[in-house]
Amino acid sequence: MPLCIVVGTHWGDEGKGKIVDYLGKDADVIARTQGGSNAGHTVIVEGEKYVFHLIPSGILHEKKVCVLGDGMVIDPFAFLQEIETLLKQGIEVKGRLFISAKAHLVMPYHRLFDEFYEKWRGKGRIGTTGRGIGPAYEDKVARWGIRVIDLQDRDSFAEKLKMILEYKNLLLSKIFGHPLLSFEQIFAEYLGYAEKILPYMIDTSAFLYQSLNEGKKILLEGAQGTMLDLDHGTYPFVTSSYPVASGSLLGAGIGPLPNIEILGICKAYTSRVGEGPFPTELKDEIGTYLREKGKEYGATTGRPRRCGWLDGVALQYAIQVNNCTSLALTKLDVLGGLPRIKFCYAYQGIGKEWREFPFDSRFLDHCTPLYEELEGWEEDISSARSYQDLPTNTQRFIESIEDLIGIPISLISVGPGRGDTIIRKSLW
Ligand code: IMP
Repeated sequence: MPLCIVVGTHWGDEGKGKIVDYLGKDADVIARTQGGSNAGHTVIVEGEKYVFHLIPSGILHEKKVCVLGDGMVIDPFAFLQEIETLLKQGIEVKGRLFISAKAHLVMPYHRLFDEFYEKWRGKGRIGTTGRGIGPAYEDKVARWGIRVIDLQDRDSFAEKLKMILEYKNLLLSKIFGHPLLSFEQIFAEYLGYAEKILPYMIDTSAFLYQSLNEGKKILLEGAQGTMLDLDHGTYPFVTSSYPVASGSLLGAGIGPLPNIEILGICKAYTSRVGEGPFPTELKDEIGTYLREKGKEYGATTGRPRRCGWLDGVALQYAIQVNNCTSLALTKLDVLGGLPRIKFCYAYQGIGKEWREFPFDSRFLDHCTPLYEELEGWEEDISSARSYQDLPTNTQRFIESIEDLIGIPISLISVGPGRGDTIIRKSLW
């Protein structure tokens, strides 16, 4: 299929970076479409670790074109820093990395408001990444966000920034008791960025449209996950963009097309970073085992991730809301060594069994997950390269999940390296 959307099925950190890198070798264009530097996608190639926050991990493939789409909020400092890090690692991006003129910019006051809002919420804080993402989208919706294209005209940029900053300074000083931010300082800082980032600016939506018409293959790299979606996730404990598949199209500026491969990326267990309901969370030694073996520490903030058994209720919901065509099961090797393995097929609460995802977060906090329990495996599966190489108990786990979800698991990741992957069905 000419278009493949990679979408996280849970609360992010499903291993999308590695899968995008893997699929990227057969794509022509790889695009990020929403979110910003709150994402952290890790890829390991020949022992070298690359961490991406804004740039699609597909950039590691020489000659592939990468795009930061319309729906993103871009922190110019983080963007330029990422390019610099990539250059140091021998990855040249010139001529094959483009950013949307319509994407919004993360401004210094966005990061401040992110911090102040969290403090204001107190016990009800979201546990954001602190990258200013929510406040940047808030300004976009309020229609006084500053876009990449605004950097082109010095005078109108100055006028816009002055008007916005006056209001922001009022809030910062009167409500949060923070010293006033200097217009001159921010203006000079962003003019400096303008010089460096404007050469990357194009009409990415038109570029993607043209690429599709030329028969090129496009891979849309979703960030975060379905359960963090602003509309479809565990609101209010969500991010401020639309990580679902339809949000990817919106953020790319691509209209609805027939025949899209929508690949759900699902970890063999579930994790969550930040606050909010997580019915299958394990606060015991198994949770610790998964966190340590799976190196479940945030790639953006370093925070330890909460870990638990695979949540099949959330998974089925994600398959429905994204219309997933198949699934990639990641980090399967991490489950090795556990004598028993579980996955949740329903929640129990208020006198009934719930197979559909319930939206009352108070219910989610108190429900009891119902588990299917299987025998584990002792073997190290990281060198398996075909389905037949996997132990019988591992195959049984995979097939039990397939029985639950009703779509095929087309890809299985058994280790962090690019090659540590089993393909059961080709996607392109
Ligand atoms: P924000 O996106 O920084 O506003 O954070 C909102 C929520 O989304 C918090 O719970 C974050 O921990 C979570 N979040 C944001 N980006 C990611 C990600 O890339 N992986 C996992 N969680 C994320």
